[in-house]
Amino acid sequence: MIPESELEKHFPANQDNPSTPGIRIGTIVGGSLSKGLVVKLDAGELPGSMIEQLAVGRYVVVQGLTERRFFCIVTDVALEHTNPSVESNPPEATDIIMAEVYRSTLAYGKANVAPMLVLEHGSEEPKPVKTIPAHFSVVVQANEEDVAKVFGKADSDHFYIGNPIEMDQVPINVNLDRFIERSSGVFGKSGTGKSFITRTLLSGIVKSGKASCLIFDMHNDYGWAIKNEHGKEYKGLQQLFDAHQVNVITLDPETSQARGNRHDGALHIPYDAIEPEDIAMLAGVLTLSEVQVNALYFLRRRLGRKWLRKLLSNDENDQSELDEFVQQGDLIKGTLGAIQRKFEIFRRMGFLKTNVSEDIVETLFQKLNSGISIVLEFGIYGDSLPAYMFVANYLTRRIHHRYVATKNKAFGQQGDEPNPLMIVIEEAHKFLDPEISQHTIFGTIARELRKYNVTLLVVDQRPSGIDDEVMSQIGTRVTCLLDNESDIRAVFSGVSGASALREVLARLDTQQQALIMGHAVPMPVVIRTRDYGPELYAEISQQEHKLQSDSEKVAQAKTDLFG
Ligand SMILES: Nc1ncnc2c1ncn2[C@@H]1O[C@H](COP(=O)(O)OP(=O)(O)OP(=O)(O)O)[C@@H](O)[C@H]1O
Ligand SMILES: [Mg+2]
Repeated sequence: MIPESELEKHFPANQDNPSTPGIRIGTIVGGSLSKGLVVKLDAGELPGSMIEQLAVGRYVVVQGLTERRFFCIVTDVALEHTNPSVESNPPEATDIIMAEVYRSTLAYGKANVAPMLVLEHGSEEPKPVKTIPAHFSVVVQANEEDVAKVFGKADSDHFYIGNPIEMDQVPINVNLDRFIERSSGVFGKSGTGKSFITRTLLSGIVKSGKASCLIFDMHNDYGWAIKNEHGKEYKGLQQLFDAHQVNVITLDPETSQARGNRHDGALHIPYDAIEPEDIAMLAGVLTLSEVQVNALYFLRRRLGRKWLRKLLSNDENDQSELDEFVQQGDLIKGTLGAIQRKFEIFRRMGFLKTNVSEDIVETLFQKLNSGISIVLEFGIYGDSLPAYMFVANYLTRRIHHRYVATKNKAFGQQGDEPNPLMIVIEEAHKFLDPEISQHTIFGTIARELRKYNVTLLVVDQRPSGIDDEVMSQIGTRVTCLLDNESDIRAVFSGVSGASALREVLARLDTQQQALIMGHAVPMPVVIRTRDYGPELYAEISQQEHKLQSDSEKVAQAKTDLFG
């Protein structure tokens, strides 16, 4: 090993500066703001070992000359040398001493780091970087204090969702206000942990009471208990929260009962309330042509509210009424026949009823507006994409409409602001593909930001299928492993400095790791998502107890005052 130089003895690299207590890893030798910085790595205690200790996605801090500290994320690691003979004439594998001499002199490691935030001297609040540190600035591993400073402490506004890789003790918290302020997304290949991280985020949001969630739970992932592939059981939201916070409404009461799932109501949709607009969005999955979609509007106009019932009816009178349109030349026979064939699927939707006494839209709106989150459990209908899309579209259109009306009233000072609402949809690309996103309620919600207090949380394994314009409105992106190039490109679209993070994303573990970037975090961060299990349940029930004891205190105070 090389002896410490005289200079280093008198001016040690970092240990005398109390604000940089992290372990030194190297020196800045080049780079740019747009392409990232180049770090020449120190040899390390065992020469060369520093390279192997540095993983993409890790945080480092660069101590600038002017007391600025730059928070950076490692995006690449490489091997370099100062002499071509290292490549043409490497030391023999058996010559350990020579290899060590090379690794301490001619051969070294290089890392690329992307600068993200800067902490100015005397300031507590990190800001986005606009410049870079000078040549030969010292680079240290970010320590727990550094990361905590950037991500803040967990409190009622910040929810703990995981830890940076190799920093198990440091919590990473998302800013919940910012998370619900704009539409957000959870992306990743199948089986990477999307549903688990979504459930974690939802429990944080419900616990905070910052928004009501309307969850279109296609695969029965969120409401009641779920079993993973090893048979281990995890609690659903309804088990974590009481009925004032979460209600499960089912489309399939029989399956819910058979599974022993408690539910707080069943959803029935009356045929006569269905409008062509509720079905037009399904044109893709039902393979309805433009002519056929137009025919739906025609039928609605001519047959009135009963149009769908008549289309599906076996009654001869209804059929002859339809045949008349054909005879009069208003409708082509083939078109009518195709629509009726394709609409067979609605006959299998047991939740569609002729007579429904309850106004389910009103009930749901009242619950959501009073702060109750709703999990809509699909039961057997979860296997049917048309049923899922139909119900999500039907309810979202109407509930959004109620929100717009309530918000407008509040604007005119004739009522209260509606409670913020986050609508959770799976298979989001089916709702938001470029062909239809312009015309659907989901595209509208994503685009109007939170003008009417409604935002989306989209969960999807194929983000490349989502309209670019909608994608650019997704404020916070939580991305588990993706390996398809176009999907990776899609999640980074509209994120500045994103290209540097591609390697980070492509190298995530296959489960329970995610890259979080955007509105709700001060800088991109790779996390191991927190275990969804007893610790999280306990945290949530603690809060419950606290709420209880607060309300008990109020009750006590009332009794004290008024007897
Ligand atoms: N935070 C976590 N806590 C505990 N287990 C987890 C966590 N994240 C992922 N897992 C494990 O990974 C498995 C897959 O996760 P999950 O079901 O969330 O994947 P997914 O991305 O939603 O898959 P799909 O696209 O098929 O719905 C889970 O069954 C569980 O075993
Ligand atoms: Mg899932």
